[in-house]
Amino acid sequence: MLNPSDFIKESVEEIKKNIGDKKAIIALSGGVDSSVASVLTSQAIGDNLVAVFVDHGLLREGEAEYVEKTFEKRLNLKSVNASFEFLNKLEGVTDPEEKRKIIGEVFINVFERVAEDIGAEYLVQGTIAPDWIESQGQIKSHHNVALPHGLVLEIVEPIRELYKDEVRVIGSKLGLPDEMVNRQPFPGPGLAVRVVGTLTPKKIEICRKANAIVEEEVKKEGLDDTLWQYFAVLTDTKVTGVKGDIRDYGYLVVLRMVESLDAMTAHVPEIPWKVIKIMSQRITAEIPEVTHVALSVSDKPPSTIEFA
Ligand code: XMP
Repeated sequence: MLNPSDFIKESVEEIKKNIGDKKAIIALSGGVDSSVASVLTSQAIGDNLVAVFVDHGLLREGEAEYVEKTFEKRLNLKSVNASFEFLNKLEGVTDPEEKRKIIGEVFINVFERVAEDIGAEYLVQGTIAPDWIESQGQIKSHHNVALPHGLVLEIVEPIRELYKDEVRVIGSKLGLPDEMVNRQPFPGPGLAVRVVGTLTPKKIEICRKANAIVEEEVKKEGLDDTLWQYFAVLTDTKVTGVKGDIRDYGYLVVLRMVESLDAMTAHVPEIPWKVIKIMSQRITAEIPEVTHVALSVSDKPPSTIEFA
């Protein structure tokens, strides 16, 4: 990579040349890649880039507010709360791949409606090098995409030659807060891949609360610098517990914390035991529906990082 200032200067020129005074759209997830691609493009074409943040009802606690706070002054941001539409389509679905497929389809429908509204001709994406190197199918740098209802957009991928660590460097140089450029990855389908079995508003809420506790405790201990991802999974298993003097029958939550360089492989490091105990105590105390917490100790392979 060029030095960061030169990379930004050259990219901004390239984007200006490419998009000119046309309208462009990007799906801003709040992750580092789409955030950096958004800010870079916005430096080139200003408010002609509309950054669309879709709340699918499967976000982490406080995520929509976080994204709004971080980007409302930096980008022409459009937040869309489509959670009803997503959760409606996901009702009763248990198969993980089916969940992903539905989420992908609803997302594109929501996104296409906004793109049509603003008259977008370009679609900016935060694709980075491993995304296309590993998926041998799509190595072209210039292509169009036809959305399901017929809108055709030309793809612009301003950070497609960069690796994750380089994206973080560019993000910092663009003035994004450290906390944002160093965020742990969060899967596009969100908590849908961390709730095993059917998705109900109640189960999503339990999973969201447990994830927030894990994040808080990891950060309190300063472990967020070394862990690649740290989260909680709500299993579909119910187990007997006892709370107060009363026997209870509640959910089993699994803690998952891994180190990794690129998510292709991952290993579970030795987390200080007191951190695990605090997480377990807090989750069972603060979430009445949970009676038992377990720790995942499986590396990838053979396991994947997420549970679904
Ligand atoms: P796995 O679970 O396959 O995850 O070891 C590898 C990395 O990818 C993330 N992940 C996803 N990201 N859509 C995404 O955008 C998905 O469907 C998805 N599934 C997993 C996961 O969080 C990890 O960083």
